[in-house]
Amino acid sequence: MKILVILAHPDINNGSNANKVILDALIQQQDIKVKDLHTLYPDSKIDVLAEQSALLESDLIVFQHPLHWYSVPSVLKEWMDSVLLYGFAYGEGGNKLLGKKLLISTTIGGPEESYRPGGHNSFPMSDFLKPLQQTALFCGMDFINPILSYGMVYIPQGNASKNDIQRRAECHAKRLIETMNELKGSQDLERFA
Ligand SMILES: Cc1cc2nc3c(=O)[nH]c(=O)nc-3n(C[C@H](O)[C@H](O)[C@H](O)COP(=O)(O)O)c2cc1C
Repeated sequence: MKILVILAHPDINNGSNANKVILDALIQQQDIKVKDLHTLYPDSKIDVLAEQSALLESDLIVFQHPLHWYSVPSVLKEWMDSVLLYGFAYGEGGNKLLGKKLLISTTIGGPEESYRPGGHNSFPMSDFLKPLQQTALFCGMDFINPILSYGMVYIPQGNASKNDIQRRAECHAKRLIETMNELKGSQDLERFA
């Protein structure tokens, strides 16, 4: 199974505690292609054909990103708007993503207990992820249970130290890689049957 990770972070090398740890774990894995959108497209001018061809070659597409204003970072939204076109992802002849899997892997600043009615983020993360879930369904993709980690923001004098964030990010990477391996295994079984 070919895995494509679409990494969306505005400054992965100098401005990330969590996603950098996850990225470092992912690039140790075999058979995973990572596309770092900000590095590839610092001016957000997406190479649509290159991105579509990377999607065509992949079975599992992973969106790896921090939560920004309850959504994906803007470069990933730009990527979606530019790449998931009529005739490719949906509409007449738009069956190129059919049967592929989409896995959302997101780091979240707020604590888990804030993502509920009455909490300061009011709604569960499953609500904020609905646009991505429906995007997958609209394109005929399988939406895999997202991998989410809360309390991932580092604030000096805050509750979590950089070491805490690093440990949480390592756990996140472990869960992500386990999920990828399970998906690989289930595909092999399907093929075997
Ligand atoms: C522009 C911006 C918007 C953010 N919006 C949210 C948000 O809506 N909810 C939340 O819980 N955290 C939010 N955060 C916190 C990030 O999700 C958190 O810092 C990130 O997941 C940590 O990953 P990193 O160390 O790789 O940057 C935001 C951070 C930034 C910079």
